[in-house]
Amino acid sequence: MEKNKKTTSGRRGFLSKSALLGAGMAAAPLAFANPNRISEKTSLQNTIKKQGKRMLGSLEVSPIGLGCMSMKSGSYNPPLENKDMIPVIRGAVDLGVTFFDTAEVYGPFTDEKLVGKALAPVRDKVVIASKFGFSFENGERAGRNSRPEHVRNAVEGMLKRLKTDRIDLLYLHRLDPNVPVEEVAGTVKDLIREGKALHFGLSEVSPTTIRKAHEEQTVSALQSEYSLIQRALENEVIDTCGELGIGFVPWGPVCRGFLGDKFNEYSRFSEDSRFAAVPYFTPEAIKAHMKVLQFVREWGRKKNATPAQISLAWLLSQKPFIVPIPGTTKLHHVKENQGALSITFSDTELKEFGEVLEKIPLVGVRGPETALIDQ
Ligand SMILES: NC(=O)c1ccc[n+]([C@@H]2O[C@H](COP(=O)([O-])OP(=O)(O)OC[C@H]3O[C@@H](n4cnc5c(N)ncnc54)[C@H](OP(=O)(O)O)[C@@H]3O)[C@@H](O)[C@H]2O)c1
Repeated sequence: MEKNKKTTSGRRGFLSKSALLGAGMAAAPLAFANPNRISEKTSLQNTIKKQGKRMLGSLEVSPIGLGCMSMKSGSYNPPLENKDMIPVIRGAVDLGVTFFDTAEVYGPFTDEKLVGKALAPVRDKVVIASKFGFSFENGERAGRNSRPEHVRNAVEGMLKRLKTDRIDLLYLHRLDPNVPVEEVAGTVKDLIREGKALHFGLSEVSPTTIRKAHEEQTVSALQSEYSLIQRALENEVIDTCGELGIGFVPWGPVCRGFLGDKFNEYSRFSEDSRFAAVPYFTPEAIKAHMKVLQFVREWGRKKNATPAQISLAWLLSQKPFIVPIPGTTKLHHVKENQGALSITFSDTELKEFGEVLEKIPLVGVRGPETALIDQ
């Protein structure tokens, strides 16, 4: 939902407008050769148990969550059928994932419906995060809106679609320039008093905005883009979270599939594709970032891990309050991503990793100054 991103809606729209051109979709190597073997599943479950949980403020979640956006949003693939996505969500629960991310705007509305349906049988065992912040007209997004009455109505709709009586983590998706964040925090505070929301989150806001909101209502989590390639929020934003006891939830943790080895230097996107609007997916940027991918692959060879696993393990090793939510439409990718929990870096390794990473030039990514600006 970043600025300047084009959205596509509907399967037809996606197919006609956003075909991946060129030789893009190389299959990622799997961590678990045979996902059905009980011993492998058990060993993954044990790993997750051993790794325990992470805290987003006072909210306990699995150390890696599941981003459900691309199941219905049409962002990276055509919207998919509930019958195919429910097993992915339920399969994630079986693998120990307890943290599920959706938003009113994904679809819009259809992703929340899917998540609600999939998680209804295990509702009390999982944490559902969703986001408000937009108006909708004729089934399309129509600008930002966080006026109190609009937020209250939005939450009523979210509760129905999610088939629940409370939203565990209710995020403001994007700051509305017409509504001070303190007012939004005040609205969420009332919703928390009424039991309709349990925790408050923000997305893509500056340290100043985080502080203002946190004064009015404790913020449990900040969700913003962070990966090996998109590192602008290091320092100011993540440090602010650390100082205030707020969890940090990186979206785009495998750089929209790039760090999952999903693309190569020949990958190209048609004009209307979501990827075409992302400045770090231009041909020049892809070429530059192949060096990051090569480097991640090298570490993968050292640690017997896939690039996605290295990328997620690196995020987890940055701070104990970081909880990535890789998005996927495939259960084998959920398994692979959860496998990152068994990969650790020593301090020396992290230093060595960081020193090389810093020297790789990046193209089309956010500059550090953007960390201080609400998106
Ligand atoms: N707050 C915000 O503004 C905001 C913005 C965007 C997203 N989000 C949330 O954050 C979540 C994650 O972000 P994201 O989906 O944009 O980016 P992401 O998680 O970095 O990348 C998702 C893409 O990576 C692929 N992928 C995932 N695991 C993989 C693996 N192991 N190997 C190869 N490919 C893999 C997926 O393809 P397959 O389906 O083929 O696995 C998918 O197309 C979203 O689902 C959404 O819930 C929030």
